Amino acid sequence: MRKKLLLGNWKMNLTIAEATKFAQASIPLVEKAKAANVLLGVAPTYLSLATVKQHNPGLIVSAQNIHFENNGAFTGEISVPMLKEIGIHWTLIGHSERRNYFGETNLICNKKMLKALTEGMTVVYCVGESSDDYDHGRTKAVIRDQLLVGLAGMTAEHLQHVVIAYEPVWSIGTGKNASKEHAQDIAIYIRERLEEMFNAESSQKTLILYGGSVKPNNIKDYLSQPDVDGALVGGASLNVTSFEELLTNMLR
Ligand code: PGA
Repeated sequence: MRKKLLLGNWKMNLTIAEATKFAQASIPLVEKAKAANVLLGVAPTYLSLATVKQHNPGLIVSAQNIHFENNGAFTGEISVPMLKEIGIHWTLIGHSERRNYFGETNLICNKKMLKALTEGMTVVYCVGESSDDYDHGRTKAVIRDQLLVGLAGMTAEHLQHVVIAYEPVWSIGTGKNASKEHAQDIAIYIRERLEEMFNAESSQKTLILYGGSVKPNNIKDYLSQPDVDGALVGGASLNVTSFEELLTNMLR
């Protein structure tokens, strides 16, 4: 049985003071999630990682990005050893905003993931098609490339530390939801590709999330799909009341 995962992606939101309040207020949610076999986490900005970890040690605290080198002349970047030093062992990779605004390619995502996995981190690899790709029926071809290139050079052992987040770009922050059937169809498609690339057992063990305008009132629709194991949530994860509603409703 795969566990469920609810992960909030805070993007460039919440100051340290706001993140601290969230961390403190979310302590009871960790127990509730644990009792239901749900992994619960958030991905704050770099500045708030240590604070959130300190105030709510039971919450998974994930970075939103890493650099693939340990150190060097890479102005504005943060490396894996720096994150591990403050107890951060999870990171998102390849979020569509990183791909679209900061030019991250599948190849760059691959380098970052290999680095993170080699260093013992868990990675949430984001994949998903643009609205143009969706309109032209290219969703599966795009995702196939994202998986083939992004996960190249990895072993089945590595895959155990990879979560795949399927996020149609046209659905992120737009309130335009993908149907639950579409989410399930793509989740199965991803599982089939993982089976081809690795093996059936590893594919069945991998957590696959849906993301894109997930709210308390629709999270259950996605989570009721057999191959959708959780959600990556932006806007609705920013306040603790809504985060709690997401958790409560996904368990219903
Ligand atoms: P959203 O963002 O829930 O605000 O659509 C999801 C994401 O970007 O991970």
